[in-house]
This record gives sequence, structure tokens and C-alpha cells, in this order.
Amino acid sequence: MKLLSLVTALAAAGSAAAFAPSNVGSARSAVSTNMAASEELYIDEERRFLMNLILLGSGALTVGAIGIPYIAFFVPPGSGSGSGGSPAKDALGNDIFAQAYLAEKPANDRSLAQGLKGDATYLIVKDDKSLEKYGLNAVCTHLGCVVPWSAAQNKFMCPCHGSQYAPDGSVVRGPAPLPLALAHCDVAEDGKIIFSPWTEDDFRTGGKGWWN
Ligand code: FES
Repeated sequence: MKLLSLVTALAAAGSAAAFAPSNVGSARSAVSTNMAASEELYIDEERRFLMNLILLGSGALTVGAIGIPYIAFFVPPGSGSGSGGSPAKDALGNDIFAQAYLAEKPANDRSLAQGLKGDATYLIVKDDKSLEKYGLNAVCTHLGCVVPWSAAQNKFMCPCHGSQYAPDGSVVRGPAPLPLALAHCDVAEDGKIIFSPWTEDDFRTGGKGWWN
């Protein structure tokens, strides 16, 4: 009887030992499969996010590269200035700097520069060799010829129909009906000469400027 019990116990232990490693192995295998799957899923999401980021970045770059120059084309030069002013430019389109300009111009000089909206505008050098606080638009108020300055006559004389203007742009002789338009003329901190719109009254007539 004792022998039978011993045999039975040994058999039971043997069968337990035989099955135990197999169960653990399959459990481990299942866990590692699940981990691999979730890792793969995580990598896939990360890759998708990266791909979206690259796609979005290249799209934004393309739109920026094409769109910004396109928009800039329609923005008039000088309109970026907060005060509405724009730098006076020479015939080559370069900004004019007051110090260099005044060093080469004589007193009482009136020379043309590109002014607001590209209009030909006279810069005026005063007797003390400083810059006048206003510039004169060179467009004749009769029919729009550009009016030359005559230093010999000390006035602006229109070659088209004979209108004449005083050194400050007021009418001396018709048929021009109105004085030459004014623009503010100032020197910026960086030394550039800046034109800006003249919105106050016209000091020559005492009334509102006709160009406003
Ligand atoms: S355009 Fe100047 S006088 Fe006629």
C-alpha cells in the first residue's frame, strides 16, 4: 500500500514538472508578442506624426516662397513706414542722406528727388545751408508738366504754357490756378531725408491744401 502511494506521488510530481515549464513559456511568449505589437503601434504613430510634420512644413515653405513675393509685389514702396512717410530718393532710386546732400548743394538750391508716390519733388536748401521743412511737388497745377527751377530767375518756370511760381511754390503767373503741392520734409534718426504728407493748412494761402 505504501509502495503504491509512493509511486502515485512520484507520478504526480513528474507530471507537474513536465507541464510547468511549458505553461510559463507560452505565457512569456504571449506577453512578448503583445509588447511587440504595442511597440510597433507606437512607432507607427510616431512615424505618421513625423510624416505629417514634414508634409506640413514643406507645404508651408512652398506657400511662403511663392506667396510672400507675390504679396510684396503689390505693396507700394514706403507704405511700411508707420508715419506714412517715405525716404527721398535720387535719380538712381537710392535713399538720400541729409548730411551728404547738404555738403554738395549750394544755399538756395532746389533739386529734384523722388517724393511721395514717386512724384518729382523739390528739396530746398535754405540760405543757412539747412534743409527746408517742406518739399515742393514739381507737377504744374495747370496741366501737369514738370516745372523746372530757374536759379537765374529765382522762380519755377513752366515751359508748357508759361506759368511761374515763387521759390515757395506760390503762383506768380498763370495759367496755373494753384500753388505747387507741399510735402513735409524731415531728417530721420538714421540721417535719411523723409517726405510725408502735408495735411495741415497751406501756409501760402492760409486755407486747406488743395491736394488734401
Ligand atoms: S502745364 Fe504748366 S503752364 Fe500749363
